Parts: sequence; structure tokens; C-alpha cells
Amino acid sequence: MTHQTQLRDRAAVLDGKDELAAKRQEFVLDDTVYLDGNSLGALPANVEARVADVITREWGKLRIRSWEESGWWTAPERIGDRLAPLLGAAPGQVVVADSTSVNVFKALVAAVRIARGEGGEGEGAERDEIVVDATTFPTDGYIAASAARLTGCRLIPSVPADVPGVLGPRTAAVLLNHADYRSGKLHDLPGLTAAVHAVGALVVWDLCHTAGALPIGLDEHGVDLAVGCTYKYLNGGPGSPAYLYVRKEHQPRFDSPLPGWNSHAEPFGMRADYAPADDAVRGRVGTPDILSLLAFDAALNVWEGVSTAAVRAKSLALTDFFLECVAAYVPEGRVESITPAAHAERGSQIALRCPDAAGVMKRLIERGVVGDYRAPDVLRFGFTPLYVSFADTERAARVLADTLADTLEELPESPPQGA
Ligand SMILES: Cc1ncc(COP(=O)(O)O)c(C=O)c1O
Repeated sequence: MTHQTQLRDRAAVLDGKDELAAKRQEFVLDDTVYLDGNSLGALPANVEARVADVITREWGKLRIRSWEESGWWTAPERIGDRLAPLLGAAPGQVVVADSTSVNVFKALVAAVRIARGEGGEGEGAERDEIVVDATTFPTDGYIAASAARLTGCRLIPSVPADVPGVLGPRTAAVLLNHADYRSGKLHDLPGLTAAVHAVGALVVWDLCHTAGALPIGLDEHGVDLAVGCTYKYLNGGPGSPAYLYVRKEHQPRFDSPLPGWNSHAEPFGMRADYAPADDAVRGRVGTPDILSLLAFDAALNVWEGVSTAAVRAKSLALTDFFLECVAAYVPEGRVESITPAAHAERGSQIALRCPDAAGVMKRLIERGVVGDYRAPDVLRFGFTPLYVSFADTERAARVLADTLADTLEELPESPPQGA
């Protein structure tokens, strides 16, 4: 039996045993292999009719009445509560609003204010350092730098593994990514959270590359604040609003740097003085983006009956199988995985170093395998367990091998890994 027949047979067996296999029917897909759900999740089939209903009935017929009668006004916290189980959060701690970038700003500035005891006894006033993941997605780095300037803090970039070594009595807040957007490396959320707490600081986690792909356990691990987007593994649609988690015990001291009228205790009181709402609603700013928000609400229906443990098990099985197929099909030296082999350090994406990643990805897409690339030399393949099959996975590796066979470029010496 050839490698190919063996691996195709294995894929069929694995798909036959896959308890999530039926979920694929709930998405709009075609016969391309879609491995870009780590950038834009596929469309859940029920969303179109729901958005049409929001437009024609709730907006078209009810108009202004929908703020109350269709529940538009309270949608950010109601949908936050629907999302919360996927983040491992009890109700009342998540709002869905704004972009991840904006939520990073709110969370980080608020974290510094809490760590300094502002509005309380003032214990912690000497804290003047913000630690940021040195390998972060750029927007988090830009915003952390701005938050540091605004709060009079020094910014300390550090790769996540080295964070415990840079923490101290002056640390106010730490901003970390749960998974690296380039390599797919998963960072130790429980361990790093505990290390930050040991010096009396607060941690903000960016969950963009993990929520919907694996269990997060925000409450269980004592995370202070968290943010993330809903358009990747949560399938909310292009530009769907992000979320902000504020741990219950921090809510009374969450002092938003963007205290808009939507976070006011009495928004329709139209008062000149600001008084924040009691709960997670403090994380809101202005009028919610109803069409995108309700599209995301509908997209959450696909999670009915799905456990994040089952999603994680399939994600690891898919990424293991992809690495095995790549090793079998692609001649040595043509690509190199920069995603950790250890399950404990792997998110739901495989990143392969490859010369001319842009050109290779273009040809892969022409051949029906959709992933993406990050300059200069990283091919990214995202595995969304709700709709990617093992047959897709084998096909992606086979088409990658065929595509590389058409080019002669060898992989140059490995550069040091960083941002
Ligand atoms: C880790 C991470 N943080 C932040 C962002 C940016 O989010 P937004 O454009 O919604 O502000 C992204 C976008 O892909 C991301 O991957």
C-alpha cells in the first residue's frame, strides 16, 4: 500500500469516528479545503436568515421599538452571557462590543488603575510598569505602548516564557496572547496568570487565537481581564464585534478609560456626571453594532451540544494528522514546522516555514486549499474542528506537496524565531 492510500484510509476511519462530523452540515462550505478559520471563520448556515429577519422585521418594521422589544439595547451583555461558557466564565462578566484593539485599550488601562488601587486605598500607587508579549500581534503592542504613555508606565516587552523573570513589585499589568498568531504556539495561561498574581499585578489575556478552539477556563484560572475577536474560531463574520471579560471581583473597580454613555448606570438619565453601571456593562462604550452583533448571536447556535473538550481533542488530532501527512508527502528540507510538537504548547493552527510563502499560498488557493501566510516565510493552516475533516487535512498536505514539487526552492537555514 502506498503512503497515500494508507493516509487516505486513515482519514476515512478518523472521519467515521468523529463525534463532531455532523457539525459541518451547519456551515456554508464548498469543496475547497478551508483552513483559514483562524483568520475568518466560515459562515454558519442559519446566519443569513437571522440577519434578513433583523433587517426586514426588527429594523424595517419595528424600527426604534427594537431597541427594547427586540432586545437590542441589552444585546452586548446577553450575547456575552451566551459566549461565556466557551471562555469558561460564569454569567455577568462578558460584554460583546467594539473591536479587540479597543478592548485591549480599555482592559489594559483599567488593569493598571486597579493594580494601583486608584479609587480605593491607593495601595500599589508605585506600580509603573506594563509588561507586553514581545511576539504579540502588532495592534496589542501599539496599544500597550499608548496605554503606557497615558498611565506614565514603562513598557517592558518580553517573550511569554520569560515573563516571570521580568515581574516585580513595580509591575502593574501584563498583556499576553494565549496563542501566537504566527507560530500557533500556545502559552501557559494558568502558570503565567499565577506568576503575575504572585507579584500583585493584573493580567490581560488576548484570546483571539484560542476562543472556540480549546477550553480557556477564565474563571478557573483566576484571569483578571480578557479580550478577543469573534470572527475567527467563533465564526461571527467579517468585523463582528469583539468581547471583553471583566472578572466579577474587579468589576466595582473597573474604571474604563472610555466611559461612554452605554456604560452609564442610567444611560437615559442623560446626566452630565458619569456614574458607571455596577457590572460588566461598565465595559461598554457607545451604541452597539447591531447587525454584526446579531449575526454573531446567530452564529453561536452552532455550539449547541458541543463541548470545548471535544473540540480540543479533535483539533489536536487534526493538527497531529496534518503534520504526519506533511512528513509523509513533502520531501525533507522543503518546509519546517514552527508550531510546537507538544500538545500543551499547540493551539489550533500549524505554521510551516517555507520560501516564497506568498507565492506558494497563492498556488495552493488556486488548487482548492485555502490557508494564508505571514511575511516573509510562514504558511498558516488553521484547523476549525467544527467543520474541518480528516479527509480535508490529508488533501491539504497532498496538494502542498504537489505545489512544492513544481518549485525547486529549498528552505534556507532557520533564522531565530521571534516576532
Ligand atoms: C491576537 C490578535 N489580537 C488582536 C487582533 C486585532 O483585532 P481587531 O482588528 O478586531 O481589533 C487580531 C487580529 O487578527 C489578533 O490576531
